[in-house]
Amino acid sequence: MSQRRILVTAALPYANGHIHLGHLVEYIQTDIWVRFQKLRGQRCIYLCADDTHGTAIMIRARQEGRSEEALIADMRAAHIRDFNGFEIEFDHYGSTHSSTTRELCGQVWSGLLDQDMVVEANVAQLYDPVEKTFLADRFVKGGCPKCGAENQYGDSCDKCFSTYSAMEVRNPKSTLSGATPEMRDAVHKLIRIEKQRVFLEHWTQSGKHLEEEVANYLKGQFLGEPLRDWDVSRPARYFGFEIPGFPNNFWYVWFDAPIGYMGSLGDWCLNTGEKFEDWWARGKPGQDISGNHEIHHFIGKDIMYFHTLFWPGVLKAAGFQLPTRVHIHGFLTVDGEKMSKTKGTFVRAATYLNQLNPSYLRYYYASKLSNGIDDLDLNRDEFVMKVNSDLIGKIVNLASRTARFVETTGLTAKYPDDAGLFQEFSAAGDDIAAAYEHCDYNRAMRTIMALADKANQYVAGAAPWELKKDASRAGQMQQVCTVALNLFRQLVVYLSPVLPSLKKQTEDLLNKPIQHWDETKQPLEGTKVSRFTHMMKRVEPAQMEAMIQDSKQEYQSMSESAPQSAIGNRQSAIATDGPEALAAEPLLAEQISIDDFAKVDLRVARIIEAEYLPDAKKLLKLKVSMGGDVARQVFAGIKSAYEPDQLVGRLVIIVANLAPRQMKFGLSEGMVCAAGAGGTEIYLLSPDSGARPGQRVH
Ligand code: MSP
Ligand code: ZN
Repeated sequence: MSQRRILVTAALPYANGHIHLGHLVEYIQTDIWVRFQKLRGQRCIYLCADDTHGTAIMIRARQEGRSEEALIADMRAAHIRDFNGFEIEFDHYGSTHSSTTRELCGQVWSGLLDQDMVVEANVAQLYDPVEKTFLADRFVKGGCPKCGAENQYGDSCDKCFSTYSAMEVRNPKSTLSGATPEMRDAVHKLIRIEKQRVFLEHWTQSGKHLEEEVANYLKGQFLGEPLRDWDVSRPARYFGFEIPGFPNNFWYVWFDAPIGYMGSLGDWCLNTGEKFEDWWARGKPGQDISGNHEIHHFIGKDIMYFHTLFWPGVLKAAGFQLPTRVHIHGFLTVDGEKMSKTKGTFVRAATYLNQLNPSYLRYYYASKLSNGIDDLDLNRDEFVMKVNSDLIGKIVNLASRTARFVETTGLTAKYPDDAGLFQEFSAAGDDIAAAYEHCDYNRAMRTIMALADKANQYVAGAAPWELKKDASRAGQMQQVCTVALNLFRQLVVYLSPVLPSLKKQTEDLLNKPIQHWDETKQPLEGTKVSRFTHMMKRVEPAQMEAMIQDSKQEYQSMSESAPQSAIGNRQSAIATDGPEALAAEPLLAEQISIDDFAKVDLRVARIIEAEYLPDAKKLLKLKVSMGGDVARQVFAGIKSAYEPDQLVGRLVIIVANLAPRQMKFGLSEGMVCAAGAGGTEIYLLSPDSGARPGQRVH
């Protein structure tokens, strides 16, 4: 078969949050597919980007007092770190906030105009007069219009589960400013997706581009009635691209997000000198374009509508090549439940990596994934069992039990008789490849582990450790190990899309690169064997538990860092960035009202005495003047960053109404405010000059 050219994308993660284990279902699934295609000798590229636009990013940047650009740059760095940590290898990782994406948006837009796909309409929406912005439904809270429950989000009620529009909410309040929103009309641009009905019915139901289950769902759920016009513009203020010829209006984030796939391709082409049209064909608006190469999108089921109706409809109208296939997966649950921050099961990529090896999760997901849209459960006990019994017990052990016996001799010059095992393993390759091709990784893993069982039976029967004891049987021992290591290598080739690290280790062990799937067809003979170094440790249940605990704590400390959000809410023009700082303490603290904040009595105070405590590792003993002759004793954990002498005389900010606390060294009657991660990174807060002890901080 001639070489295929395959462009692959995974959904573009939002730039307003960190990568978590749920996201990784998708990025790992896609990475495995791409690595598989590359190993089979296809030309395949894996493209992704951050999805950067929209109200949520705009608001968050405002709360953090910095530009959207600074915020998305930090998040992009964090995303890339997480993906690297999980060995997810993109050919290009772009951003929707790029000039290439902007340009492509313009091209798609003119195609849509050309095809008479765009209409104008007056759209009424709630508007926050204080923040001067239209409010997406989830930025509105109020009483549920159905059951009356208070304090519900503007799109759905968590008491009676009904969904509605924010305009129906009783006594609505903007969550941004607390102001009562006004109803305002604005002209919007809408895409008449119904005009593509005939094409979409054909495209979705042809059996070529979607799983049958998905095609049927679309037919039953959406195609039975006219497709609603899709509102793709937002009036200022909005973080996005301004629409040409429609000043002060911006494309809605979901319009430019999928065009970000093409933007990422465009930027990859700029880097590599490749031609855009060689990967994504294009013609005249309205033309049905089929290139002689493939485009595959991997997405979660929550964004199916955008990718199987809007996106093909838009591409068709604008005259761009249509996706060859949209691969849709289900959602991750943990121990049978929705991921939860309070239970610690909403685990971030970085939190996982602090405790556990990425190969474990890659294998675990592979063993669970099929081509359906069912949800996928991360069961902790099963995770431990699969990693230990499959990866360690069946695969790594094959090498660890045999490699050291042939460290000095290497493999036999001629591959010995193995009763057909090698042959059987290489013959299984087509089946395993077909399973990978259809994203049925679960089947691929089961087939591979069944082969691994046979290899282990062989080793157990031949018992090289017994042969080792008898010098006259050294030749036989070398033969047995030659067979075992060749079978091991075949298994590693089959597993290598899932386990890139194990592939690398095996290349080093057997001094032979793995470059193609078909290398399973030819045994290694006479090869040197390197000293065996450990490949992968068993996973301990305690590590899983530690990960959950870490995760729980992260979210707890976030919701306890309330003062941070009080400060953050204030607008500031200074863009002081610190990716690490925000990564360590992201701005996710629960919103509080001004009344909540007023409960904290913050005061300016002057340090009048400061001294070391003989036994204290972290604490200094301070005496602070609160104005007049009121003084308080406070123990502050700042010893690692300040010397007592530096402190005397300076102004600080004190939480004055914190309940006094009896400590080993005496009573602490307040808390000194400081920022930073601890250690030498502690920065006391102080007011500008002119402030006087006793003044309250508002
Ligand atoms: N920004 C949009 C996608 C735009 S694509 C042009 C988006 N971003 S997301 O960050 O919310 O999700 C990215 C991908 O991760 C989506 O395909 C989504 O389905 C997937 N997942 C997010 N949470 C998930 C789980 N808990 N489980 C499985 N996949 C999940 O949507
Ligand atoms: Zn309700």
